[in-house]
Amino acid sequence: MKNPQYQELKALAQEHLLDFLPEIDPKSSTLYEAMKYSLQAGGKMLRSVLVLASCRFAGGDVISALPYACAMEYIHTYSLIHDDLPALDNDDLRRGRPTNHKVFGEDMAILAGDGLLSCAFEAMNKDKLLYLDDLSKLKPRVLAAYEISKGAGCRGMVAGQVADVEVENRPCSKELLDYIHINKTAAMIMAAIRAGACLGGADSKMLNDLTSYGEAIGLAFQIKDDILDVMGDEALLGKPIGSDAEQGKPTYPILHGMDASMARLTELTERAIALMEPYGEKGEFFRELAEYLAIRNL
Ligand code: IPE
Ligand code: IPE
Ligand code: MG
Ligand code: MG
Ligand code: MG
Repeated sequence: MKNPQYQELKALAQEHLLDFLPEIDPKSSTLYEAMKYSLQAGGKMLRSVLVLASCRFAGGDVISALPYACAMEYIHTYSLIHDDLPALDNDDLRRGRPTNHKVFGEDMAILAGDGLLSCAFEAMNKDKLLYLDDLSKLKPRVLAAYEISKGAGCRGMVAGQVADVEVENRPCSKELLDYIHINKTAAMIMAAIRAGACLGGADSKMLNDLTSYGEAIGLAFQIKDDILDVMGDEALLGKPIGSDAEQGKPTYPILHGMDASMARLTELTERAIALMEPYGEKGEFFRELAEYLAIRNL
């Protein structure tokens, strides 16, 4: 996305991406290499940018949100490493490179995912420890960490992945597909936005508006991902086209047809933009982001 604020926040998160990993014993250097390989493969950094942008939107300092933004990226990257494993989607290409298990083996890819997930919680807890004696600074951090653990967990991303795997090559209702998409993808996007909003000190009205916005762009994001799996350009996307059909995944284009999928994407994008309308100039970044996510080709 060419938006200057996106570029600024992405560069900031990228610059500090390894800062919140613990110092790793040289005997575990393979683990560190495998984690770094996927972290630095050049993703869009959407979830970390969302933490920083919503923190700023709510009036907070983006620097203080960095541990949470990077933790989101660790969790997201772990989810991609595991998602690509032969036991899940069995994909060979990610972010324009061979997938983690193709380079480091399945054993190390599983462990690199485990490592990244643990590092996310270590980073957030380490940050909270700094504010144990200052309740006003500790509270937003506890709330942000809670939002992130919830979005990533068993009533969020993991739940969505479970349903996604169980429904392969089986009949799937439109309701179940929305459940899958909202959990496997929108939950992490909403968590990023809510965590940032908590860190920035948003009031409940702003938190509600951002949550509804996150739900709309989150579902739209996965609908677009499904569409790109049919119509995308592998070289631009950096991941295989046709993977969903190969794995027998129910997707938006399969269950709703391409035209209705595009129409739903537009409707959700317009809803997201409308939610940010009352914020005037301040809401422009989020309106532009919603528009960009609908037309993206990577
Ligand atoms: C891919 O996420 C996984 C989905 C939830 C669809 P992204 O499209 O944000 O992947 P990166 O981080 O840019 O590689
Ligand atoms: C994955 O959805 C969502 C995750 C939680 C990783 P997909 O399986 O459609 O994501 P891609 O297309 O492999 O990036
Ligand atoms: Mg998948
Ligand atoms: Mg996949
Ligand atoms: Mg996909």
